[in-house]
Amino acid sequence: MTAAVTVLSVALAAAGRADNTAGNSMQAQIDHGKSTYASKCSHCHGPNLINSGTITPDLRAIPDDKTRFVSTVKNGKNNKMPPWGDILSDDEIGNLWAFVSSRRKP
Ligand code: HEC
Repeated sequence: MTAAVTVLSVALAAAGRADNTAGNSMQAQIDHGKSTYASKCSHCHGPNLINSGTITPDLRAIPDDKTRFVSTVKNGKNNKMPPWGDILSDDEIGNLWAFVSSRRKP
């Protein structure tokens, strides 16, 4: 139950922000990225992009650098973050970036 509420509030927060700044196709990317994040990333990085008490970085505060994000996600990092290049398509990783960017800390 708590998880469902968290996912819903993440959805609402992302939707609210994107409505102010971008059009429908950006919203579709964010929504798709959000569901990929929930199934592939949240068990390590936390449902809200931060997982206190672990070695995962706060994804709301990573550099605003899509190239670096795509390459980290594809290749993994330091044998701690698994590589996703064989699992996720470029579009799926682009949508993950749209989602993570939409949740960036001001
Ligand atoms: C098995 C746990 C695990 C999973 C699953 C995982 N990560 Fe990570 N991720 C990590 C860890 C640990 C680090 C930190 C690695 C380091 O800095 O040594 C990391 C680092 C990162 C970074 C680097 C941030 C920076 O400093 O630039 C990004 C971006 C990232 N993860 C995104 C994702 C995305 C997107 C997914 C889902 C496709 C994902 N991670 C899935 C564990 C995970």
